[in-house]
Parts: sequence; C-alpha cells; structure tokens
Amino acid sequence: MALIRLDRFISERTEYTRSEIKQLVKKGSVSLDGATVKASDVKIDPEASVVTVCGNTVGAQKYRYILLNKPDGYVCSTDEKDGKTVMELIPRELRTKNMFPAGRLDKDSLGALLITDDGQLAHNILSPHSHIPKIYIVKLDRPFQSNYVDLFERGITLGNGEQCLPAKAACAKNSDKLAFIELHEGKYHQVKRMFAAVDNHVDVLMRISLGGLILPEKLALGECMELLHKDVENLFRPLDFTRFCEDFLGDFSAKLINSIL
Ligand code: URA
Repeated sequence: MALIRLDRFISERTEYTRSEIKQLVKKGSVSLDGATVKASDVKIDPEASVVTVCGNTVGAQKYRYILLNKPDGYVCSTDEKDGKTVMELIPRELRTKNMFPAGRLDKDSLGALLITDDGQLAHNILSPHSHIPKIYIVKLDRPFQSNYVDLFERGITLGNGEQCLPAKAACAKNSDKLAFIELHEGKYHQVKRMFAAVDNHVDVLMRISLGGLILPEKLALGECMELLHKDVENLFRPLDFTRFCEDFLGDFSAKLINSIL
C-alpha cells in the first residue's frame, strides 16, 4: 500500500485544512497508532493506520455516516444562511467537506437524522422509489382515536387534497396522547398534516427509526455518533412495526420518551 502524508490523510477525511492540522499536531491533539504525533508530514499507511484528532478516530472508510439525535431549533441544511444548521452539532473532526443531511426533519422535529458524504446512499434513501420505512413517535394535543389506525392504513387525504400512501399508526400503551406512526414516503410536514387531517395536532415529533436503523437510547438530544458500515446496512433491513412499538416502550425508551414530554 502506498504511504501518504498524515496531513493529507486527515484533510481528505475531515474539514480541517493542512495549516489547521499543523496547529493541532503542535498542540499534541493528533495521534497515530496510539502515540502522539510530532510532525504533520509523517508518512502513514492509509489502510492500516489508526489516526485520531482530538480523541476522535478519523475514518479509514471512504464515506462517513453520522447518526444525529436532532434537537429542536436546528434546520436540516448545510447553508448557514438558513439559520442554525444540524451541521453545527457535528464535531469538526467528524465532519467532511461534502457532508449533508440525508433527509429532512422540520426545524422543531427531533430524532434520527443521517448525515453523510455518500451521495449514492443518500439518493437511495431519499428517492421516492426507496420506500425505506420511517417510524416516528408523536405527542398529540388530543387523545389518539382507535379509528386512526384504519384511516392511516387506507391512506390519508391531506388538507390540500394530496393523497398519502398507506401508513401504520398505533397508540402507545402508557399514554393516549403518545402514538407511533410508520411512513414509507416523505411529503412536506407529512406527519403533522396527517394528524391535522383527522382533527388532531402534533405537539412534539421525534423520528426513532430509519428502516432497521434505530435511534439508540444512549444518544441524547443534540448528540451524534459515527456509524459503522454494518449499522448503515440496517437502513435496508425490515422492521416489524407492531413488535417494534411494544419493544420500544417495553425495553429502553423511558428516558427518550421523557425527553419529548
Ligand atoms: N413529518 C413532519 O410533519 N415533520 C417532520 O419533521 C417529519 C415528518
């Protein structure tokens, strides 16, 4: 394997410029295979070396995948002109130059958001033909009605006449104002507009899964984690909605639910 300079390795995989990397090396913030690095032009094996910057491992894989638990008040954009963006929540050493949010959550929505520089994967997720199911938990203004299950299953007609694909809905066992909903598409403000169409209102919305990729309980609002390739593959694994809703409330979600109540 051809060796490459350490500063090139880091700059190709993060947002840091070569001069910033030099400064970080000077401060002792860069390590190579466990030892603090003294020079930014040292040659490394890009396949085998383990490089960390400020304690975070710089990925050896071609693309980077970050799962963010999006908090309220951040827009899903890379453009600072849009306001506070989700990109600000990603530590610099985890960011790469071409990263963007692969999907959209409203500014006031919470939960699972994938941020990546893998354009093909993002396309596969966002394509209207992909139909990757997404599960949301919502806090409603009024109690969940049992007829919602049928109405959602048949496909809701939104206020402007737009027709939604069949969706699944279930009330959470521990509160009649908490509900799960599974969508196979992503229209603008879709969950909020679906509940508006049945005369209810979504007070809080959190996305808790993208395909078979489930928001981990340990990931607090505003926190993010780098995903391994095997985690990313979960995006395309099926998830049983009914079992998921039961397990989600049964096993591990008390902290997560409390964060949205
Ligand atoms: N549906 C909504 O209404 N908002 C979101 O952020 C996501 C889905």
